[in-house]
Order: sequence, then C-alpha cells, then structure tokens
Amino acid sequence: MKPASLLLLLIFAYVSILVRGNEPPQNPYSSQYGIDNVLMNYVAYCDAEQIIDWSCYRCQNFPHATNAKVIQNNETSTRGIITTYNNTVYVAFRGSVSTTDWIENFEFFHVDYPNVTDAKVHYGFYHSWLSVSEEIYAGIVDSLKQCPDCNKITVLGHSYGAAVSTFCTVSVVNWFPNINVYSMTIGSPRVGNDVFAQYYNSIHRNNWRIVNQQDPVPHLPPEYTIYEYHHVPNEVWYPNNVTTYRICNDSGEDKSCSDSVDPLKYNTSDHLDYLGQRCCC
Ligand SMILES: *[C@@H]1O[C@H](CO)[C@@H](O)[C@H](O)[C@H]1NC(C)=O
Ligand SMILES: *[C@@H]1O[C@H](CO)[C@@H](O)[C@H](O)[C@H]1NC(C)=O
Ligand SMILES: *[C@@H]1O[C@H](CO)[C@@H](O)[C@H](O)[C@H]1NC(C)=O
Ligand SMILES: *[C@@H]1O[C@H](CO)[C@@H](O)[C@H](O)[C@H]1NC(C)=O
Ligand SMILES: *[C@@H]1O[C@H](CO)[C@@H](O)[C@H](O)[C@H]1NC(C)=O
Ligand SMILES: *[C@@H]1O[C@H](CO)[C@@H](O)[C@H](O)[C@H]1NC(C)=O
Repeated sequence: MKPASLLLLLIFAYVSILVRGNEPPQNPYSSQYGIDNVLMNYVAYCDAEQIIDWSCYRCQNFPHATNAKVIQNNETSTRGIITTYNNTVYVAFRGSVSTTDWIENFEFFHVDYPNVTDAKVHYGFYHSWLSVSEEIYAGIVDSLKQCPDCNKITVLGHSYGAAVSTFCTVSVVNWFPNINVYSMTIGSPRVGNDVFAQYYNSIHRNNWRIVNQQDPVPHLPPEYTIYEYHHVPNEVWYPNNVTTYRICNDSGEDKSCSDSVDPLKYNTSDHLDYLGQRCCC
C-alpha cells in the first residue's frame, strides 16, 4: 500500500471513530438475561434481614449467592444491595417504596455533574446517589476482596433506583477500570441532559435500558423542557407484551421505540410488570 493511501485510510478510520461516538452494548441482550436481572433487582425490595441471610422470596432464584449487604439511606429513601453470584458482584437499587411520591415531588432541576463540562443532571436522583456512594464503594471493595474470582460487576436498578443506578454505573466504571462493568435498568426515568448521556456512553457501552410497553416513567422528566433531558442508551422496548422486544438505536431517544407511545395510553401497571415479573419482593 502506498503511504498516501495509508494516510487516507488512517484519516478515514479516525473520522469514522469520531462520527460513530455512540456504540451499542457489546454484551448481547436476550429475554433470559433480562429476566435474570429483573429478578435480582427485585431482591432489593425484600426485607433487609432476609436479604442479609439470603432467605428472602426473591433470593431463592439465586441459591448460591453470598456476602449480601443492604446499604440504605433513610433520609433520601435510597437502598442498594450488593451480593456475589456466579463470579459477578451485583449491585441493585430498588425504587422508592411508595411508587408515586417521587414523581410528584420531582426535584428535577439540574445541577452540574462534576468534571464533565456542560453535563447537567437531575438534582434529586444525583443527591440520592451521593447519599450512599461511599458505602457502595466500600461494599464493592469488600465483595471483590472476598471473591478473588469475580471478574464482573453488574449494576441494576428499577424505577427511582434505575436513575440512582445510572450514576452508580458511572462511578463504578471510574472506580474499577480493570473490571468489566455491565448494567441494566428497568423503567428508568431520564437522569440528565444530552451531554451527560454522551459522556455516559463514551465511558460505558454495556447498558441495556429496558422499557415495558406503555410504562409512563421513562417519559419523565419530559425531553423537551428548558432542562433538555435526554435518555442514556441503549433502550430495549417491549411494545406489545412481555415476550417480543425491539433493540432501539443508540441515540438514547429512538423515536420509533417507546418515544412513539401516545401519552394518553400511558399505563402505570406496565411500570410494575417488567418481563412478566410482577414487582416487587
Ligand atoms: C432505616 O430504616 C430502617 C427501617 O425503618 C431501619 O431498620 C434502619 O435501621 C434505618 N437505617 C438507618 C441507617 O437509620
Ligand atoms: C449462573 O451459573 C449457572 C451455572 O453455570 C447457570 O446455570 C445460570 O444461568 C447462571 N445464572 C446467571 C443469572 O447468570
Ligand atoms: C473531579 O476531579 C477532581 C480532581 O481531579 C477529583 O478530585 C474528584 O474526585 C472528581 N470528582 C468526581 C465525582 O469524579
Ligand atoms: C407478542 O407480540 C408479538 C407481536 O405483536 C406477537 O407476534 C406474539 O405472538 C405476542 N406474544 C404473546 C405471548 O402474546
Ligand atoms: C435513531 O432512530 C431515529 C428514528 O427512530 C432517527 O431519527 C435517528 O436519526 C436515529 N439515530 C441514530 C444515531 O441512528
Ligand atoms: C393497563 O395494563 C393492564 C395490564 O396490561 C391492563 O389490565 C389494563 O386494562 C390497562 N389499563 C388501561 C387503562 O389501558
């Protein structure tokens, strides 16, 4: 190859990387993967003592999980659990106990996301994350110490907890650069602006953001306000039922996916029935 062609090729490759920017997750999505994660996420709703000794109803699905911890801040109503299963450290956040309060009391004004120029995030969700972040960090460090074979961290969240988990994922990726990090959210609201979404996708591609049918919560806060909220990728939408899904594009806001739902058809029941698994414990 002539040097000139090589140079052109290099320029082309470089430009392609710049243009691509966003990329879909590397771990394939399947309904079984989704269901496993939904069931693990629902553990976070169970009684704290029964999580710690792993006797809870949802715990039965993961019989050999070890070293379970419950990390809770009562002031912000934030709860995450950490447990180890199949050489994976799972971190999962539950929604708020009363499912609608937080929608009404939305502290949805923006605050700056640290260290990322122009990235803005939802005050309430971010504040909730900060209220548990140090304990979550310590909990993961302990779990990795107890499980030397663990080579993966999976971060999960439902509803309000999905929003909190999105910030957790960013921190986990930055805290543990040598471990593969995967994440999945179910019924997540929007958590920040498009600059935040871009940043998120630039450091972490392996996120599946599951939306069930006419669930209203993923449409909040609305996309087009002065705050310009924008979802993180990558949406998976179940349009009709709990078995058939669609992998949406990696823009975060694929208009042919759940964004296409008529607001008059929003149905709260869909928020609590992900992949046919009735919420919660
Ligand atoms: C939070 O509330 C739960 C249930 O009311 C209680 O068991 C727990 O001790 C509280 N945690 C803290 C850190 O205050
Ligand atoms: C955990 O590992 C077992 C045995 O390899 C496998 O059957 C099961 O599907 C795994 N579960 C998850 C949630 O990955
Ligand atoms: C932001 O950057 C400063 C300086 O590098 C660092 O000390 C701080 O931990 C960072 N904050 C976050 C949330 O990453
Ligand atoms: C789910 O919806 C798809 C598309 O409309 C349909 O083909 C499939 O039969 C449905 N599955 C069930 C279990 O209803
Ligand atoms: C994603 O899909 C929408 C249509 O649903 C389209 O308008 C948009 O350009 C696509 N974005 C990307 C990055 O492919
Ligand atoms: C909402 O969804 C549930 C479960 O699919 C269904 O039974 C109910 O009729 C729906 N409500 C409305 C108003 O469509």
